[in-house]
Order: sequence, then structure tokens, then C-alpha cells
Amino acid sequence: MINPFSPKHPADPEYFVNREEIIQAFTKCLKRTAKIKPRKPDNIAILGDWGIGKTSVLMEFEYIAIELSEELNAFAAFIELTPSTSTDFTQFAVRTRDEVERSFRVSDMSLLAKLKKELIPNWRLKTIDLGVVTIERRYSEKSMITSFEDSLRELWNILEKNGIEVAILMLDDLHYLAQKFPDGLYDIRGIFQRLPRDDCNFMLAITGYPLLFEKAREFAEPFTRFFDRYMLDLFDRKETETAILKPIQKSNLKISLDDDVIGRIYELTRGHPYFIYFIMQDLVDSKQEGKINLEFFQEHYHKIARHLAREKFSDDLASVSEAEKRILMEMAELPETFSPSDVKIKNIRRYLKDLVENKAVVVKVERGRYSLYHPLFKEYLLQAGHRI
Ligand SMILES: Nc1ncnc2c1ncn2[C@@H]1O[C@H](COP(=O)(O)OP(=O)(O)OP(=O)(O)O)[C@@H](O)[C@H]1O
Ligand SMILES: [Mg+2]
Repeated sequence: MINPFSPKHPADPEYFVNREEIIQAFTKCLKRTAKIKPRKPDNIAILGDWGIGKTSVLMEFEYIAIELSEELNAFAAFIELTPSTSTDFTQFAVRTRDEVERSFRVSDMSLLAKLKKELIPNWRLKTIDLGVVTIERRYSEKSMITSFEDSLRELWNILEKNGIEVAILMLDDLHYLAQKFPDGLYDIRGIFQRLPRDDCNFMLAITGYPLLFEKAREFAEPFTRFFDRYMLDLFDRKETETAILKPIQKSNLKISLDDDVIGRIYELTRGHPYFIYFIMQDLVDSKQEGKINLEFFQEHYHKIARHLAREKFSDDLASVSEAEKRILMEMAELPETFSPSDVKIKNIRRYLKDLVENKAVVVKVERGRYSLYHPLFKEYLLQAGHRI
């Protein structure tokens, strides 16, 4: 039996649910961008915290772009950023070039073969001529920004000659650049503003933690205005139900869930997609056929909670110091949202910023109000209090 719930991976487009407003907006922008001349591509930013579904949305964008082949010819490249490829513009440019080469899609199969075998490898060589190489191997006097921009012009020329009308570059986890090299955001905007003026039709779809735009506002304000921005929320009760039922139906699993079980999953997860998928993965593993009622769920939940502690919460604590652990334990005893002064620990404000921005275990809910990042984490801290 194949378990369709895998919380570690983004949703397969087959199981993708909800986010209708974002999907509609993207589809509209894509159609407009593909046809309009002079070129004026729309750029979209998807913001949201850890595990909320950013990568899943990007993959759905890619799927839509390819599916719309009756109406437009798109080239979609998926660029996954990492902390180490976001430390300066050279790293960013090299990574983007490599990822474009490795991970792109078009709908026409014969064009795909031609791009894979010949056109894109040739383009890669050309990017090296243009100077897109790692720092150690730089030989050109040209700035990396110019080299990178020229390489994208070159790419567009190849694509346009082969009937492509729009090239979507999907940059996943761009907050790393905001954290490590915020000036790069400014450069990105400059590049993708100049390219359409030369008729190169690149459209950006980016994702990041909300801090991406907070940093951008500090360091590169116009960057934020360059995008239509969407914030991913938790699923509501109905959306949670859809997220649970669609994969079951699509993969023909012979199980069903009582409505109060879905209600309980919603209460526990608050509609957080990662946690929904985590619980469902374990449930499906333990019951491969038949009806899951509340009794069965409650019996199994302890095991699921322990699994979650091992897989997720102990990772969260891995980078947290002993002093910070004590703070988190204090926070777990407080009501769900609290102000720093409620935490009876000296110099609490000194620790807070790091817990929010780098450790991502505390979230700021509004000015002066904080909470642990998820109620399940709070529950874990309370349960595991004497052990950690
Ligand atoms: N719209 C959706 N439809 C179905 N499943 C979803 C959806 N959004 C998220 N999920 C599920 O939630 C989990 C987390 O999603 P995803 O990896 O896309 O989040 P993310 O925001 O990119 O996370 P990270 O911050 O770790 O990069 C995955 O298991 C995915 O299957
Ligand atoms: Mg992701």
C-alpha cells in the first residue's frame, strides 16, 4: 500500500488542495504575462512560516504552467535556495544557473528532449564564458550581476526561438538571501526590471518566510513593491477536511474517518498542513483498511505524539541552548499568547529575537505579544518538561 501522506515532501499536485485565491491570481498573471507586449511580467511572492505549504504552492504553479499548454508555452524552472548558496550574489547566480539547468519543465515533449540534450547544456557552457563561475574561478572583470543578467538574456533568446512565450523562475526559500545578503534582493529587482525592457519575458514566483519582506523593507524597500504578495494561512476546518480526504480518495485507500476524528485533527493541528500530513501518515500506516473512529484515534495519538517529538520537536531543540530551553519551558506554562514581561527570566528580551528569527520556535503574534510556534510544540514541552 502506498501512503499518500508524506509530511517531509511538498504536496504532489495530485493531492494539492485549497489556496484557490493564490492559484487564480497566478493563473491570471501567467496568461497576461505570456501575451502582453511590450513585456510587463507580473511577479508573485508567497510568504509563510515553516511547513505551511510554500513549496507545495510553487509546485502547483509549475504544474499549472505546464498544463496550460493549449493557451500558452511556458518554461518553468525550479530553484531551491539554501543558506550556503545565499551568502553573496555570486553564490546565488551560480546556484540559479545550476538549478535552471537541472530542474526545468516545458509541456512539449520534443522540445523538452531538445532542451535537455543540447540547448540547455550549451547554454550552461555559454554562461561560463559570460562569467557565471564560482568566486575561486572568476576571471572576468565584469560584475557578477552583469554576467548573470547576460546569461539570462542568452537563455531567453534560446527559449524564444523555440516558441516559449514566458519563462517562470521559481525561487524557493528566498528568505535565506534576505538573511545573509539582503543587498542581493535589490540586485534581483534591478535585473528582472531590466530584462523585460529588452523583451526578455521572465516572470518570478518566489517564496520565503514573512521576514523576507521585513528585511527587504529595511534594506531594499522597492523589492517588496516588485511583487504581488500572498500570505499563506493555516487551513480552516473545511480545508483541513479536504486536505485529509483528497489523498485518500485519489489513492483509493479503503479507509474512512469519522467526522469527529477530522474535528480532533483540526483542533490539534489548528489546520497546519505539515502537522495534518504527519498525523495522517501515521494513522494510515496503522490502519490500512476500515473506519477510523475517535476511540481508535485517541488510542493511537500517544504514539503519534511521541513520533512527532522524535522527528520534529527534538530537532527544534537541537539548536537551542540550555538557557533558551528554560525560557521555552517557562513559556509553555503561560497562556497561549504572552508578553515578554510574563516570562520571569532575566534579560528575556535579549533572547527573544534569536528565538523568533533564527531558531523559529517562538512567533510574534502582534506588537509585544508572542507565542510558541505551535500548540503541539507547547504540549510537547509540557509533557517532556522533566526530560529535556
Ligand atoms: N495546499 C496543500 N495541499 C496539500 N498538502 C499540502 C498543501 N500545503 C502543504 N501541504 C502539505 O504540508 C506539508 C508541508 O508543505 P511544504 O513543504 O510545501 O511547506 P513549506 O512551507 O514549503 O515548508 P518549509 O518551510 O519547510 O519549506 C507537506 O507534507 C505538504 O504535503
Ligand atoms: Mg519549502
